Amino acid sequence: MASAGRSANDLVGGINERMEAATVWALPARWYADPDIYQIERRSIFSRHWLWIGREGDVAEPGQYITAAPAEFPLFVRRSEDGALHGFHNVCRHRASKLLTEPSGRCRTLECPYHGWRYRSDGALDHVPLFGEAPNFPTDELSLFPISVDVWRGQVFVCLDPEAQPLIKWLGPIEDAVERTAPARADFGRRLEFLVDCNWKTYVDNYQEGYHIPPLHPGLHRDLDWKRYRVINFEGGSLHEAPTKGSSNHPGAFGWRFPHFAFNSYPDGLSFMRMEPVGPRQTRLVYDYWRPDSVSMEDFEATLEYGVQVSKEDQWITPIIQENLEAGVYDAGPLSPLHENGVFYFHEMVREAVGSAA
Ligand code: FES
Ligand SMILES: [Fe+2]
Repeated sequence: MASAGRSANDLVGGINERMEAATVWALPARWYADPDIYQIERRSIFSRHWLWIGREGDVAEPGQYITAAPAEFPLFVRRSEDGALHGFHNVCRHRASKLLTEPSGRCRTLECPYHGWRYRSDGALDHVPLFGEAPNFPTDELSLFPISVDVWRGQVFVCLDPEAQPLIKWLGPIEDAVERTAPARADFGRRLEFLVDCNWKTYVDNYQEGYHIPPLHPGLHRDLDWKRYRVINFEGGSLHEAPTKGSSNHPGAFGWRFPHFAFNSYPDGLSFMRMEPVGPRQTRLVYDYWRPDSVSMEDFEATLEYGVQVSKEDQWITPIIQENLEAGVYDAGPLSPLHENGVFYFHEMVREAVGSAA
C-alpha cells in the first residue's frame, strides 16, 4: 500500500527531523476543493485503504446487509446463508442500478430492483429474466465486483483493493492501544452523523493537532493537561496523548488511521469515527459510541454530550477555514514542529498518494 518511491515507513521516520531542520508547509489550498484532486484521492487513497463502514451486529444473521458509500463508492456487505461475509460494489452489471437501496436490512436473494437480474451470495450472476437469446452471453464475466471485508472488535471494514494487506496489520499499534484502554465489554449505544461543509482533509487536519484546543475548546482545555499533548506518528497513522487533569473522564488512548478512521478508547467507553468525503467540499462525520455495562445511561449521555460539544466546535471552525482555502488569497501556511507533526505526516501521505497518481 506504500506508494512508489519512499515506503510509508521511511516517510514517518523523517517527519519530526524534517520539521526541526526547516520550516515545512501545509498542502496547497487548491487541493482542498479541486475536483480533479478529489478524483485522484478517490482512486489512489480511498480505493487502497481499509475503510470502516459499520457494525458487525447489523450483519449478524444470514441475509442481513449494510450499505455504505465511502468517498462516493456505493457498496454493500452481506452475510450469506453459510455464515460468511461478502462485500461488493453496489452496482448491477446490467445497467448500473444499485442492488440494495436501504442503509441496512435483510434480503433472501440479491435481486436488482430495475430489471430483476439476480445474483448469488458469492456475486455470481444467477438469473437474467426475459432477456431474449443473446449469442455468447458472458454470464461468467458478469459477476458483481467484489471487495475485501474484514472485522475487528465488531467493526466491519472494507477495502476496494484486492491486494490489501490484512486489516490487523493495517491497524498497527491501534489494536494494542484499544486493547490496553477499552472496557472489556461494551454494548452499542448510539450512532451520530453530521454533514460538514468542508473538504475531508480540512477535518482530518483539525483532528490531527491539539494546537487549537485552548482557543477553540475551552471545556476540553479545562480538563486536559494541554501542555503535555503529544502526537506520535506510526506507519500509516498517529496516536495522540493528552493526560487529563484531576478526575475528568477523558480518553485513555485516541488516534487516527489514514485516511479517515479515528478511535477514542477509555475505561468508561469506546467510540469510533470516520471523516468521509461526500464530494470535494463536503464531509460526513459518523460516530459510533459504545457503552460498558458498568456505565449508567445517565453517565453515558453526559459523556456523549461532552463529545458532541467538542465536535460542534470543530464543525463550526472547519467550514470557516474551507471558505478561506477556496478564496484564492492564501496558498499554504507553515506547520508547528511542536504541535503539527501529525498534520505534516498526513499531508506528506496525501502528497505521496496524489503525486504518484497525477
Ligand atoms: S440494472 Fe440491474 S437488472 Fe437492469
Ligand atoms: Fe478540535
